[in-house]
Amino acid sequence: MSYPFNREQEIEACAAFLQSASKIAVLSGAGISTESGIPDFRSSNGLWQKEEVREAITRSCFSRQPERFYYYFSQLFLSWTDIKPNQGHLALADLENEQGKWVGIATQNIDGLHQVAGSKQVIELHGNLRHAVCQKCGTAKVMNGIKEKLENKMIPLCDCGGILKPKVVLFGDPLDMQEFRKAQIWMAQADLIFCLGTSLTVTPANTLLQHRRHDSKLVIINLEATPYDREADYVFHAKVGEILPVIVQKSQTGD
Ligand code: APR
Repeated sequence: MSYPFNREQEIEACAAFLQSASKIAVLSGAGISTESGIPDFRSSNGLWQKEEVREAITRSCFSRQPERFYYYFSQLFLSWTDIKPNQGHLALADLENEQGKWVGIATQNIDGLHQVAGSKQVIELHGNLRHAVCQKCGTAKVMNGIKEKLENKMIPLCDCGGILKPKVVLFGDPLDMQEFRKAQIWMAQADLIFCLGTSLTVTPANTLLQHRRHDSKLVIINLEATPYDREADYVFHAKVGEILPVIVQKSQTGD
């Protein structure tokens, strides 16, 4: 737990952690992508504030009323077509590509922005928007290939006639436990962990922190308080895009 002393000193301390860290694990959430124009879920203007959206983007709604699911899902998907990584994503990619640090990112996000920014070790705990899978024959289709169907408010179907489901983990869906196990190992190996833009309220993603080493450092950058703040070495209730690049820059140049 950090004590409220001057932010400059806290940033310097985190930059020193970064300099000496050999393995950095990241747990990111929707908050790292809000600065790219994608709303998060639980903030006051988050997606889940609208009950009709929250109830539609679920496995049970997809199964029972796919037209209702796709009515809401397509509005989200089509509004995210030209999104770009922001300073938060780019700072993480710099750590790996400029500073040669080992960085493993377990993200709850489906937007793919960590990979677009250049990060190479990314586990998408809740899937991604790149593919959709046929619920009848299991064929995977590229999501961009069915964009036109969504624009014309049509339910995307496979050649076999089965309904295509985006490869995202909806409420009610199981996670890819092989990938989740890999993320647990990353957390257990890391000597420095960043939680970036996540309320840390959704399991099992938030249980990843229980796998961290007792001697690892934990830094949380999140606009609002999280249930893990008290366990962190440093907490910044601020924007990821404002704080993380400064920590990375300071760890690189020392100034
Ligand atoms: N910088 C830092 N924090 C931010 C920023 C920002 N620019 N913008 C928003 N936040 C914070 C919010 O204050 C909030 O606490 O990010 C957090 C996002 O929390 P959630 O909206 O709960 O999103 P997340 O933690 O990713 O949710 C996890 O829940 O519904 C499921 O599948 C969905 O993957 C999602 C999961």
